[in-house]
Amino acid sequence: MSWSERQRAMLREMGIPAFWPVPPSAPAEDVPMVAAAVADVAPIAPAPAPTPTPTPPLARPARPEVKPPVSIAAAATAGIQAILRERPEGIDQMDWPTLRQAVSGCTACGLCESRKQTVFGVGHQHASVMIIGEAPDEQEDSQGEPFVGRAGQLLDRMLSPIGLTRADADANSQVFIANVLKCRPPGDRNPLPAEVAQCEPYLMRQIALVKPRIIIAMGRFAAQSLLKTSEPIGRLRGRLHDLQGTPVIVTYHPAYLLRNPVDKGLVWDDLCRVREQLNQPT
Ligand code: URA
Repeated sequence: MSWSERQRAMLREMGIPAFWPVPPSAPAEDVPMVAAAVADVAPIAPAPAPTPTPTPPLARPARPEVKPPVSIAAAATAGIQAILRERPEGIDQMDWPTLRQAVSGCTACGLCESRKQTVFGVGHQHASVMIIGEAPDEQEDSQGEPFVGRAGQLLDRMLSPIGLTRADADANSQVFIANVLKCRPPGDRNPLPAEVAQCEPYLMRQIALVKPRIIIAMGRFAAQSLLKTSEPIGRLRGRLHDLQGTPVIVTYHPAYLLRNPVDKGLVWDDLCRVREQLNQPT
């Protein structure tokens, strides 16, 4: 595969390691080391929105995504059970302010007891692109905003080459970012199915209000919850799914990429598919 200077510049911005051929004339800094790619998540200069060439079929199966903290199985073994209470009525009719208020006061599961605050989501209320992650971690729980840690910084760097941002911009450029869960699971353990079920109407209402042109499901957990499947992420990637009429692209979670930077190229393919979708006439 040969890459134009423009494409390589975009890959550099994502910190994608040079496992693709690089022309001999390329300067040394064109070939970032994997370690540098992981460490370097500092903000970057905005790049112009590219018009990517169609992405080739996936070349190799992806590795399974492994989340180090407590797994669902381990949670069950440890006797962690979801504590469930009533949820507010009429979530599917709520406007933005009512929905935000309902989320911030939600006590529908036991996560309300350990959270510092809810993490509602941020971004353009009519964004073309909605990004859905798993759940707040410690930093998000403290700051009340999704994806603010290292994974979030990498996410910002991933969005920039395809002309997307979390910063204030128009609906075509500014994304809306939300999580499946609005509260941090203690110790950043995996969400329990009952917690997801309790939180799901909030996310569904957010999607209905934003009406995105495409959803990016980040990571196995978001993908499987949204698409109601147990298929592994490696098999969910690489094609468009449908969520009640909205196209969904599945890709790896930035936290996974921090541990497995070699897979940034696969995410680049996924992001190119997002760009292609956005470039289609509406
Ligand atoms: N922070 C978030 O807000 N969501 C994730 O999925 C991970 C970290």
